[in-house]
Amino acid sequence: MRDSRETFVNHAFVAGYPIKHSRSPLIHGYWLKSLALEGSYGAQAVSPEALVGFLQSLRDGTSGFGGGNITIPHKERAFSLCDRPDDLSRELGAVNTLWLKDGLLHATNTDGYGFTTNLDERAAGWDHCDTAVILGAGGASRAVIQAVRDRGVKTIHVVNRTLEKARELADRFGPSIRAQAMGEMPDLMKGAGLFINTTSLGMDGTPVPQIDFTTMAKGAVVTDIVYVPLKTPLLAQAETQGLRIVDGLGMLLHQAAPGFEKWFGRRPVVDAALRQVIIDDM
Ligand code: ATR
Repeated sequence: MRDSRETFVNHAFVAGYPIKHSRSPLIHGYWLKSLALEGSYGAQAVSPEALVGFLQSLRDGTSGFGGGNITIPHKERAFSLCDRPDDLSRELGAVNTLWLKDGLLHATNTDGYGFTTNLDERAAGWDHCDTAVILGAGGASRAVIQAVRDRGVKTIHVVNRTLEKARELADRFGPSIRAQAMGEMPDLMKGAGLFINTTSLGMDGTPVPQIDFTTMAKGAVVTDIVYVPLKTPLLAQAETQGLRIVDGLGMLLHQAAPGFEKWFGRRPVVDAALRQVIIDDM
């Protein structure tokens, strides 16, 4: 990603609303310190009304920032407001990483990269399966659907309580994506090689549905993109049933790395000590 013509700036942000729960400042602060780099990375509370002005202050240089992360609820609007979204984010319609170059706001989305890198690290070979089941069709599931499709998984069932939302994603991402109702889950799980939860199911005090993971293919992987708690109710169920599980913390850590490289000029490493910093903060 490094381009020798770029000047590296060293003040970056994460903008969202609300923003105080973001762990991105901890991640980037850890890397700045461990790489002994000058620079800063801070949280910016940017309300929906303030987003246009905030992005303009980046563009005209008055903010002093060279780039940053965009988080909930701005990922989609920031996509339409930036100047140079890359192809990946154009298909997705959402961005999470911005950088300024020649007075223009460039943007990409690194959530899919974070997701696949986490699985590559913790469940190598996960992408050799033919069928994946993805639960949820909200903002968080989009980048995951795109990434799993791009890794060549032939059939991806997107199961959602509101079927219409799954249908919209199937239309957006092409013929390998199949929209499915919740009631189809037991059948879809049979022989699947990958199960991904992208919902907050079970985290809001509502009962967690029992899922039979035992009918999945031999060596199947179950993962969650939610990382608080580290072992979500669905991951706990899958582990009890003998499946390989991968928590979502690595996705958060890996999605941060490409942006850090853009703003600070060095590719940071996701190591066990960084993981522990975030766990200690939970
Ligand atoms: P995010 O951007 O984090 O994905 P979202 O856009 O609100 O958040 O999407 C949340 C997802 O979790 C949706 O797929 C939602 O299902 P609906 O589209 O039917 O709302 C799903 N979800 C949340 N709570 C759920 C529950 N109790 N049972 C089933 N699905 C649930």
